[in-house]
Amino acid sequence: MNNTADTLPFPSGRPAPYQPLTDEPVFDAGRHLALEMPSHTATLNALGYQDADLVDCASTFAVSNAFRILSADGVAAMRDVCNQIYQNRNASEGTGANRLGSYARGAGYRSQFIRDFCDSPELAAHLSQIAGIELGRHSVPAVACGINYAPDDISRAIDTWHVDSVAYDIVMMITDPTTLKGGEFQYFHGTKQEGQSLLGISGEEGVDTSLPEDRVITIPFPEAGFGFMQQGTMIFHRACRLLERAERITMIPSFEVLPANAPDSTNTLNMADWDDPGMCPELARHEIWRTAARLEQLLDEIDLNDSPATLNTRINSAIARLVRFSDKLESKSS
Ligand SMILES: [Fe+2]
Repeated sequence: MNNTADTLPFPSGRPAPYQPLTDEPVFDAGRHLALEMPSHTATLNALGYQDADLVDCASTFAVSNAFRILSADGVAAMRDVCNQIYQNRNASEGTGANRLGSYARGAGYRSQFIRDFCDSPELAAHLSQIAGIELGRHSVPAVACGINYAPDDISRAIDTWHVDSVAYDIVMMITDPTTLKGGEFQYFHGTKQEGQSLLGISGEEGVDTSLPEDRVITIPFPEAGFGFMQQGTMIFHRACRLLERAERITMIPSFEVLPANAPDSTNTLNMADWDDPGMCPELARHEIWRTAARLEQLLDEIDLNDSPATLNTRINSAIARLVRFSDKLESKSS
């Protein structure tokens, strides 16, 4: 078993519908990254969350402004790769709520460049510093390397109001944001529960309607290669529709809290309903890996004076997420 301080390696092989690129640049962190710190970050408390709301959150970090991630060479290489993957983007109609317009999840199956970018220790260390907690590339390849394209029908939002199923992600602009009309990235300045109740929705479900303007914050992107980070499970956000047809590509790499026995808010029950190829096996790997890490910790901590009730509670706590996920699989197969 790999060290729990490291993220889970990518699985071997790839789902059949995903075609590997045959002509792409080789990722070089020294050449393609140009990491800078954001000038501003907000906390979850500043958005109105109370301490009691945050017991499952590993960090109070909420969202940053956009900061430079890719160099000019990095932008050119990433754009070339994203343009090539467009021909092999996901054929699915999206998540259960049919939320996204046009996208490629699991881009790391198609592109070694993207896989190496998302997996780069330099990027994970940088984001960990911003979030104030140790982060690693997400163990679920579908969300570790995501690309969003503008939908063909520009009357559709690029992504409607929602929260994410993964705790930490960056939204990085690959195309020039300064020429866009519309297509802004916005978040609700409040708790997700308040945003959801204003729109009359629940869960991760997306909806393309408006929230009070004075509560909505637009994140400016100065140029391609800039991205911001958010604790996406706690931030109610959307990408607006384009007002004029234009190329708009964003990349959304996701991250999770390490070590593997740390609390995890990945919403694998929701993601199990996505119809991406390989989704359920990817989620099973994630839950098995993190449960194994919790069990290893428990093995070290069992005391010979522990009561049956204590042992029962601790064992159930270690395996609860895996059992719930397994029950979800059972419900999908019946
Ligand atoms: Fe999102």
